[in-house]
Amino acid sequence: MSEKKKQVSRRQFLNYTLTGVGGFMAAGMLAPMVRFAIDPVLQTRERGGFSAVVDVDELTNEPQRFDWQIDQVDAWYESKVTRSAWVYKKEDGTIMALSPICTHLGCVVSWQGNDDYPDQFYCPCHGGRYTKEGVNIPNTPPPAPLALYEQKEEEGTLFLGKAIPREGA
Ligand code: FES
Repeated sequence: MSEKKKQVSRRQFLNYTLTGVGGFMAAGMLAPMVRFAIDPVLQTRERGGFSAVVDVDELTNEPQRFDWQIDQVDAWYESKVTRSAWVYKKEDGTIMALSPICTHLGCVVSWQGNDDYPDQFYCPCHGGRYTKEGVNIPNTPPPAPLALYEQKEEEGTLFLGKAIPREGA
C-alpha cells in the first residue's frame, strides 16, 4: 500500500501564510472603522428612535407639557437627555406634539405664557408668538413654526420620535 503525500512547496507555504496573516490584519483594522461608521445608525434603529410619553386618554384639547428622557450616545459617551413637548388633541382627534424650542434663538415657549396673548404660545426672550398649531405669528421674531414631533400610537400610548422642523409661515 502506497501513500501519496501531498507536497507543499516552500513558495506555496509562504503564499498561504502571508495571505492568511495579511487578511487577518486587514480585517482587524477595518472592523472597528466599519463598526464606528454604522453603529450609531444601528443603535437608533434598535431603540426605534421613539419614546413612550403619555397615555393618549390623558390628552385634552388644551396643550400640556410633557417631559421624558432619552439615552443619547455620542461615539463612546452615553448620557440621558431630557426632551419636552407641548401635546394636545385637535377637534378632529389629530394629535399635535410641538417642540417647545423657539425657532428664533432657541428659548423655551409656554402655552398662554403672556396674559396679553391668550391661546398662543409665547416666548419670553424676545416676545415671539405662535398660534395653537405652533405657526409663527407674522411680525414677531420667530422665522418658522415650532417643530413637530414624529409620533406613533401603540396600545393607547403616544410615542414621540424626532422633532421635525417646518417651513416658515
Ligand atoms: S428666542 Fe424666542 S423670540 Fe427670540
